[in-house]
Amino acid sequence: MPDKFKDRIAAYTARVDSGLERALPAADTSPMRLHDAMRYSVFNGGKRVRPLLVYAAGECLRVEPRLLDAPAVAIELIHAFSLVHDDLPAMDNDDLRRGKPTVHKQYDEATAILAADALQPLAFSVLAKLDGAPSGAPIQLVQLITDACGSTGMTGGQSIDLDAEGKTLTAEELEHMYLLKTGALIHASILSACLLTENLPTADFDALNSFGRDIGIAFQIKDDILDVVGDTDVIGKPAGSDESLNKATYPALFGIEASRDRCDELLARALGSLARFGDSAAPLQWLAQFIVERGR
Ligand code: IPE
Ligand code: IPE
Ligand code: MG
Ligand code: MG
Ligand code: MG
Repeated sequence: MPDKFKDRIAAYTARVDSGLERALPAADTSPMRLHDAMRYSVFNGGKRVRPLLVYAAGECLRVEPRLLDAPAVAIELIHAFSLVHDDLPAMDNDDLRRGKPTVHKQYDEATAILAADALQPLAFSVLAKLDGAPSGAPIQLVQLITDACGSTGMTGGQSIDLDAEGKTLTAEELEHMYLLKTGALIHASILSACLLTENLPTADFDALNSFGRDIGIAFQIKDDILDVVGDTDVIGKPAGSDESLNKATYPALFGIEASRDRCDELLARALGSLARFGDSAAPLQWLAQFIVERGR
């Protein structure tokens, strides 16, 4: 990674981590087991891709970073909640996440369900405290992120994912599922910066909107590829989990080569969408490439 991105990524990661630290209840406050589990699910080695996308989109549109902290933290909290539920025995039944026991293994199932229950409203509490944004933006952010999280976003996608186990989906149906279960929060990360930009030209919004959709789908295809070709030690979650659950995934339905080709195609289109922004889109370009080339 070139130094200019390394430094910026480190700075943005530290920034969202300190926002998460401020938002989460202290582990030594009651109810301690619940608070401890919430912190465990957030501070255990996530890549922070969604917050990084919020800050990078903000850089592209020249939004002040202090306005981006709330959506960055809120989206990461919802992401963490989605992973805790995703790993539960009733869903993917995985024991390992980020190289450590999943929350229901480290604590117990009830605590995992409750920790996720508590992470979700905390995200909206963070958004409600956003100060100094253009008028109307905070409520628009709440609407954006509730939609991305709800039954027509991530939660809906997770429902389709469970329903699709053992089924043959068309590429279109599969990508629709990806757009919801994973794409929705990634897309919302990009659109958060748009909502914080006054008088954003429609063509700029449209370009970032397409970028967010494409990179969200690519993110999940790459996750599915890593489930097949990755090592448990490196990806930090059980390799081969999708196959053992008979999940409908891009590699399972169309093969690894076609999956890689589709990722490359989505990346090329996503990068094309950024062309109009020139150098200010360099961090977004870097992140898009990272999403498709990452090893975990
Ligand atoms: C994993 O997301 C779940 C999917 C949506 C594919 P990440 O790969 O962003 O997980 P962390 O936060 O870095 O662990
Ligand atoms: C999960 O997709 C997407 C979520 C909304 C959490 P996966 O089930 O493939 O995610 P991993 O592989 O467990 O991280
Ligand atoms: Mg899943
Ligand atoms: Mg899973
Ligand atoms: Mg996966």
